[in-house]
Amino acid sequence: MKCVRCKAKAEVHLRAHNAGFCRPCYLGYFRRQVERTIAHDHMFRPDERILVAVSGGKDSLALWDVLVGLGYQTTGLYLGLGIGGYSDRSRERAEAFAGARDLPLVVRSLADEGSGLAVPDVAAATRRVPCAACGAMKRHFFDAVAHEGQFDVLATGHNLDDEAARLLGNVLRWQRDHLARQRPVLEPTHPKFVRKVKPLYLLSEYETAVYAFMSGIDYVVEECPNAEGATQLVYKDALNRLETASPGTKHAFVKEFVRTAQTLFADDAARGVPGECQQCGMPAFGAICSFCSLVREVEAKRARRAAAELTAG
Ligand code: AMP
Ligand code: FES
Ligand code: ZN
Repeated sequence: MKCVRCKAKAEVHLRAHNAGFCRPCYLGYFRRQVERTIAHDHMFRPDERILVAVSGGKDSLALWDVLVGLGYQTTGLYLGLGIGGYSDRSRERAEAFAGARDLPLVVRSLADEGSGLAVPDVAAATRRVPCAACGAMKRHFFDAVAHEGQFDVLATGHNLDDEAARLLGNVLRWQRDHLARQRPVLEPTHPKFVRKVKPLYLLSEYETAVYAFMSGIDYVVEECPNAEGATQLVYKDALNRLETASPGTKHAFVKEFVRTAQTLFADDAARGVPGECQQCGMPAFGAICSFCSLVREVEAKRARRAAAELTAG
C-alpha cells in the first residue's frame, strides 16, 4: 500500500478512513486532525493558557506534543493517584517528557493533600470502586489547579474509543443527564470553573498510539491495575467488533452524536448554577462538594478506627 499523500511506501493503514500514510505524512495528518477539531469546535485561541492533564499515557502525551507543536501556551498537570508502582512509572514518564522539552509541569500528589487520600485508601474507606473514587478526586484537582493557576482551558486526552464507549454506555441506559454533558467542549457554569476540552475525541486509540510511537514519545504502556471498571472495557470490545465489521462506525457514532443528536439532550443539563463548597470553596451543588464529602467519609472512618483501637487497647 502507498501513502495517499506522497506515494511512498505506507507504514500505517487506517481502515476507518481507507487511507495509508508514510511516517512523515502520518504525523502531519494527525496534527492537522487535532488542529481542525480545535478550530471547528472553537476549543481555544492562541492567546489562551491551556492546562493539559497528563497521565503519562500515550493519549495525553501525544496531545501535549501536538499542542506544543502548534504553538499553544501549555502547562502540564500530573496528578499522583497513589496507585503503587503504576503511579510512580506514570509520573516518571510525564516528568521525563516535560523535562526533555523544557515544558512547565505541575505535579500534585493525593497522598500529600491529606493522609488516606491515595485512591486505594479512599476506595477502601468509602467502599467505592476505585475508579469512582478516582474520578471524583481527578475532577476536583483538575478544577482546583486550573482555577488556582488562572488557566483559561483544561484539556484532557480522551480519545475516540473512550468517547464511543462512554456514549454507548449512556445510550444503552438512556442516561439523559449524562448525554447532556457528553460534549467535547464544556463551557464553565461557575466563575471558578474553566472550559474543558477533548481535542482528541475524533482520533482513535490506535491513531494516538501510532502517533506517540512514531514521534518517539516514551509513555507508560501498562493500564491502571484497577482497569477502568470492567463495563467500559466490555463496551470498547463490542465497539471494536462493530468497527471490524464496518470500519468507521466509532467515528460516525461519536461525530454524529455530537454534531446532530447531542443538543436534543441539552435541556437535561440545566442543573442550575452551582453554589460554593463550604469546605474548599470550589463550586458545589450541595453544601459541600463531592470531593470534600469523600474526604469527610475517609476522616470519619479513621476516627472510628482510632476510637476502636483505643477501646481495645
Ligand atoms: P482516563 O480517565 O484514565 O481514561 O484518562 C483520561 C484523561 O484524563 C487522560 O487522557 C488525561 O488527560 C487525564 N488523566 C488521567 N489520569 C491522570 C493523572 N493521573 N494526572 C493527570 N491527568 C490525568
Ligand atoms: Fe483511576 Fe485507575 S486511573 S482507578
Ligand atoms: Zn469542597
